[in-house]
Amino acid sequence: MDIINVDYREKIPNNVNLTEDRRVLKALEGWHPGYLNWWKDMGPDGFQEAMVYLRTAVSVDPKGWAKFDYVKMPDYRWGILLAPPEENRKIPFGEHYGEPAWQEVPGEIRATLRRLVVIQGDTEPASVEQQRHLGKTAPSLYDMRNLFQVNVEEGRHLWAMVYILHKYFGRDGREEADELLRRRSGSDDAPRMLGAFNEATPDWLSFFMFTFFTDRDGKMQLESLAQSGFDPLSRTCRFMLTEEAHHMFVGETGIGRTVQRTCEAMKAAGIEDPNDIAKVRALGVIDLPTIQKKLNLHYSLSLDLFGSEVSTNAANAFSSGIKGRFRETTIDDDHRLENSTYPVLKYINGEIKLVDEPALTALNMRLRDDYTQDCAKGVERFNKIIERTGVNFKLALPHVAFNRRIGEFKDVEATPSGVLLDPANWAKEKDKHLPSSSDGDFIASLMKPVMEPGQFAPWISPPKVGIDNKPGDFEYVQIAA
Ligand SMILES: [Fe+2]
Ligand SMILES: [Fe+2]
Repeated sequence: MDIINVDYREKIPNNVNLTEDRRVLKALEGWHPGYLNWWKDMGPDGFQEAMVYLRTAVSVDPKGWAKFDYVKMPDYRWGILLAPPEENRKIPFGEHYGEPAWQEVPGEIRATLRRLVVIQGDTEPASVEQQRHLGKTAPSLYDMRNLFQVNVEEGRHLWAMVYILHKYFGRDGREEADELLRRRSGSDDAPRMLGAFNEATPDWLSFFMFTFFTDRDGKMQLESLAQSGFDPLSRTCRFMLTEEAHHMFVGETGIGRTVQRTCEAMKAAGIEDPNDIAKVRALGVIDLPTIQKKLNLHYSLSLDLFGSEVSTNAANAFSSGIKGRFRETTIDDDHRLENSTYPVLKYINGEIKLVDEPALTALNMRLRDDYTQDCAKGVERFNKIIERTGVNFKLALPHVAFNRRIGEFKDVEATPSGVLLDPANWAKEKDKHLPSSSDGDFIASLMKPVMEPGQFAPWISPPKVGIDNKPGDFEYVQIAA
């Protein structure tokens, strides 16, 4: 078997030797038609016949794993790709630290591991569902292509988790794989499992915020599962991370280009005050305070995805060798965390306080801190863009107590700077910090599709370079007549 290159003669492209694995092949072939039906029902609305310039993974070698070509999305070759095995890999943390990594699921971690795989798997199709109407308002063919690339890859991530379920979890795995196609983002009776994946993605700024913040949460979860003592999960997550990088690129450059355009338009019109919202909006660009509100919303929703700051489930997942820390193997400590502590921000007697907790139960907090640092670097890059244009404004991440529904701060309200507010004052201030319905209406009013090659909607700057080094007027999507 060739574990670097992927065989595309197979019906289900893979590098896991599926032809020799009759039971799993049959199970996946049984699941495939339901997946295609799901894609046709819930994938990009109105563009199933369009020819899209997409990359497909042809290898798991980090250098040059993709090939680009026009493809109709329902014909995209979704496959099963695992990063090559690391020889003699050892479990890098927990009670089994230093033992050989597992190639089968140990009985005692089976239920927990299955749940983690299902939760991860559930987020993948959810985002496709959330984004399915966006093609119709794409600000350019370039952006439309990026959206569809993200969508097909989230579909592939679903395949990745479904393979693990079919291969290692027998009958309950098959049932869970079917359920992943049954739940729907935002549905009342069968919603997706996590809150942020049931929110609407109504416009392109929301999409860019989602790929910046929510896909970055995905990256952190995949990074910690890539450390897993269960080797097949580690390998599948390692390959998913190479795809995930593009999703965050789409988010970061999307927000950056929006900010750039706003600042340039302000400068050209001689508007000095970024808070003169009416004047800025009259230029047909999104004012910076509204971009800040969108950022506040998406960041706070994404923090909820990390779960409670102090969590025995997180401790168990670590101790039992299922889920490690961000860059576990580069951390210089005992990798068991039996005696160490970690500072956790808590709400105690009406005050926000930093308290030392056992490091084992504080693992969600630690991962979230790593995430926040990663987000903050991106925000710094946005501020550099603003600074270079000469506009006097800074974007910032809101305080962790702001707009939370899960964890220590779920029952309080706070401003983005972390000042606690009583409910009456919060009601008065809320629209200053979170997008109001009139902000949403304004953004929606800008969402006019631009489908001429090389043209961009007036609220966003063109990218610096094309995808696959294509020239500016390249037709990234050929829309069927
Ligand atoms: Fe994904
Ligand atoms: Fe993603």
